[in-house]
Amino acid sequence: MLSSNDLRKKAAAEKAAEFIQDGMTIGLGSGSTVYWLLKRLGELVEQGLQIKGIPSSRRTEGWARDFKVPLTDFSQVQSLDIAIDGADEIDPDFHLTKGGGGSLVREKIVDARAKQLIIIADESKMVQTLGKFPLPIEVVPFGWEATAQRIAELGATPEIRKKDGDIFVSDNGNYILDCHFQTIANPAELHNQLKLLVGVVETGLFIDMTDTVIIGAETAEEIKVIHKNK
Ligand code: 5RP
Repeated sequence: MLSSNDLRKKAAAEKAAEFIQDGMTIGLGSGSTVYWLLKRLGELVEQGLQIKGIPSSRRTEGWARDFKVPLTDFSQVQSLDIAIDGADEIDPDFHLTKGGGGSLVREKIVDARAKQLIIIADESKMVQTLGKFPLPIEVVPFGWEATAQRIAELGATPEIRKKDGDIFVSDNGNYILDCHFQTIANPAELHNQLKLLVGVVETGLFIDMTDTVIIGAETAEEIKVIHKNK
């Protein structure tokens, strides 16, 4: 039996799948909420839906293959009709923190090429101010300690991400620094400051990219679809 949290994630993902139309190319995000999207897309493809997806992580690629969702890549398509992805924090302006699963670079490349970005999440991801969730920053392995010191000078406490006792290595062969800022008053400014630091590949701040947020719930009436005011 699914937990209440899984039911919410599944509901958000299935609602997002309603935005997909025949013939679309789709950015496939990463994370446990996106798993339910892949599962649903597999069912729709089996029923005859013609789509192609670009996965934003090796894990997502594996799920797509498991559920028989056709894949493509950026050598074949220039832009995506839609991208559907998860998030770790969402603020009232729809700025996001992402990268909890370590896929932030590929997610940003994929999400940035989409005409429409839909974020699927449960209510716990909605925050007034970003920063409680440590900000993932992907860095080049060489000299990562020096890069961490520069990030610390911006007011963070960076922590190298580990998995099973070893340093976690991203799909791109890089390291992730989880940076405790506590509160991020100006996400756009912080992102720009971080991007100027040599050694930083990308930040988990997704600024002004999201069009729609879907918040899952246990009953269909409680699911929220919130479009950004433009
Ligand atoms: C991975 C991500 C995920 O989208 C984010 O961590 C949310 O994951 P989940 O749906 O498991 O809560 O950014 O890098």
